[in-house]
Amino acid sequence: HLPQHVKLVEVGPRDGLQNEANPVPPEVKVELIDRLSAAGLPNVEAAAFVSPRWVPQMADGAEVMARIRRRPGTVYSALVPNMKGMEAALAASVGEVVVFSAASEAFAQANINCSIAESIARFEPVAQAAKAAGVRLRGSISCALGCPYQGEVEPRAVVDVVQRMAALGCDEIDIADTIGVGTPGAVQAVFEAAAGVFPLDRLAGHFHDTYGQALANILAALQSGVSAFHASVAGLGGCPYAKGATGNVATEDVLYMLEGLGLRTGVDLRAVAETGDFISRAIGRPNNSRAGRALLAK
Ligand code: HMG
Ligand code: MG
Repeated sequence: HLPQHVKLVEVGPRDGLQNEANPVPPEVKVELIDRLSAAGLPNVEAAAFVSPRWVPQMADGAEVMARIRRRPGTVYSALVPNMKGMEAALAASVGEVVVFSAASEAFAQANINCSIAESIARFEPVAQAAKAAGVRLRGSISCALGCPYQGEVEPRAVVDVVQRMAALGCDEIDIADTIGVGTPGAVQAVFEAAAGVFPLDRLAGHFHDTYGQALANILAALQSGVSAFHASVAGLGGCPYAKGATGNVATEDVLYMLEGLGLRTGVDLRAVAETGDFISRAIGRPNNSRAGRALLAK
């Protein structure tokens, strides 16, 4: 009774690279994105039109979006925190804009410098502009399974933000375990609560693998009927300065598990593994995908 088709959202070029201390040249980002779309990924999060003071690594989003080879069938997404970011995202012809808030007030303050309610108010004109432009709108909810500042986060705090994002007109909403603290029972509880107020087939799971729980959490969410997940090629990500922040679950590892379960994604695992090798070498980091390393060693 698992969903037979799973949508994988590749977030490596954005979530995976945003914390790299050394600048990653735009041509490397472009090659990364083009390899990922060529591998069949239906959705690639390619940029973040945020303040370059806050996230310098994402400052070249316009250049990256202008240089990628757009594959028909791949949706290119970008994070947008406010109207300034929205204008840049529309100028860059993104296919989906992502507004992002949190289930914890402390994290919203730290990440976007405002309260949850203020963030939603800021997203209202962004959502209207997305609808007017015919661009998809996704909402992302950080710290849905725990917060580095406040600790536990109740499912009802997540449901509250899901409802606010639904009211904005979000096409899809992802529930994010920013610091990877969630375990399968908690994951099922939060998705089952969220599904009470938003269609289950438009919810997605975004799991960081800090505590090694991400694959188990994905399987638990699949068993609850969730059919869209985020992942980063080579398990990219992790900030040497922010306590608790490690990469997303590796795309290769998720694909290996889904293939073993007989679920379809339309993505070529071997091509993603080679892409993981490419980007790990390009930024001088170990490849954090277990499946990717094993496949490439064969
Ligand atoms: P602020 O300082 O309160 O905003 O930041 P402001 O409006 O006062 O602007 C400050 C400066 O930034 C001004 O420049 C603005 O023009 C500029 P100055 O006049 O000082 O030279 N600015 C911008 N520049 C470019 N693009 C923009 C933009 N907006 C303002 N869009 C703000 C508030 C939200 C802007 C800031 O806090 C910000 O950009 N935060 C982004 C943080 C971020 O990107 N975090 C990582 C992504 S979220 C994530 O990783 C979680 C996720 O993966 C899910 C999960 O795992 O949890 C999605
Ligand atoms: Mg993340």
